Amino acid sequence: GTVALAFSGGLDTTVCVSLLKEEYGFDEVIGVTVDVGQPDYEFEEAEETAEALDVEQFVVDAREDFADLCLRAVKANADYQGYPLGTALARPVIAKSILEVAEEQGCSAVAHGCTGKGNDQLRFEAIWRDSELDVIAPVRELGLTREWENEYAKEQGLPVEGGDGGRYSIDTNLWSRSIEGSELEDPSTIPEDDIYKWTENPSGKEAELVEIEFEDGVPVALEGEDLGAVELIEQLNSQAGSHGVGRTDMMEDRMLGLKVRENYEHPAATVLLTAHEALEGLVLTQEERAFKEQIDQQWSEKGYQGLIDAPIVDALEGFIDETQTRVNGTVTVKLEGGHCRPVSRESDYAVYSESAASFDESDVTGGITQQDATGVAKYHGFQSRLAKKVTEDLKAK
Ligand code: ARG
Ligand code: SIN
Repeated sequence: GTVALAFSGGLDTTVCVSLLKEEYGFDEVIGVTVDVGQPDYEFEEAEETAEALDVEQFVVDAREDFADLCLRAVKANADYQGYPLGTALARPVIAKSILEVAEEQGCSAVAHGCTGKGNDQLRFEAIWRDSELDVIAPVRELGLTREWENEYAKEQGLPVEGGDGGRYSIDTNLWSRSIEGSELEDPSTIPEDDIYKWTENPSGKEAELVEIEFEDGVPVALEGEDLGAVELIEQLNSQAGSHGVGRTDMMEDRMLGLKVRENYEHPAATVLLTAHEALEGLVLTQEERAFKEQIDQQWSEKGYQGLIDAPIVDALEGFIDETQTRVNGTVTVKLEGGHCRPVSRESDYAVYSESAASFDESDVTGGITQQDATGVAKYHGFQSRLAKKVTEDLKAK
């Protein structure tokens, strides 16, 4: 039979090609590489590796679909423990594309190179187990380690020289680049600068302003120029990356409960999430912001789990999209020394009255005067004062 393998040309998937034939007895392995905005050199690598392995390679362009999902994540201010979910959001998109190719090509099975310790196995299989095809996970089923894989690749003469030569496990897409493994696994190891590819070391570079325009919560233009989702994200990745914006070095609690040390780069995600939240701060009411934080947290959880198609996500997005109808306007952020912070926000929907909030103005919205606050000030903290007094009086008895 034929099996379709999620193929990146990296160590895990290269070793899988060989094992699917040798250990699992497949006559043919087709490699499916899904374009979710990885840099060109990754495709060149994957193509070269596929050729060397004599594997037929299919490349599916899913950049638009993936970018649209990233912008849904912006509306939900999505992150998991500070990580903006690049890998997590890409997995369902990749899994669906592979399934389509597998079905078209008459495959009897689909396979991935994920370990039995991580999140990715769960995200792929949540999609794949909805089909009739067999699901194969060689790395997990055979209990492989990266050390063993490197040895095996050497013995079999498999091409894994590209990139880092298998030192790190790297996952890249439009929204983030993740670097794990090797000495980075030790939470106390300070990473070498060369693990970073998208972000420069923040140096004395001059600060830069970027103006971002939002329509219904979605970023649509940079510096007044309308851009599609893919271009907009790519442009911000390079612009903010040059200021060292968007590095995360963290301990992550995986779905299985393992803690792992993760390093990420995500310049565009950081800028867009920062700007979007700044605009919400201007246009949403206090209670909307507080409630939306809980909704956003739930959305992020499902995003992290790779369960973005769950019915609850539609329900959460019902609330989110309702609030986003007023998230229109522009935000300017300052990129400086590895940081991105909002420095200006404007919207026709601003829930803001200059005369109401100003210290200088006496002419106040709806005829409210400063003196009107006196009664509120008298009551403020009343219950706490009373509770203390009651306790003290009882003790004194
Ligand atoms: N831990 C992250 C996540 O679950 C990223 C995993 C990235 N995978 C990799 N092979 N580097 O979303
Ligand atoms: C893996 O374990 O295959 C990669 C990391 C993850 O899935 O979390």
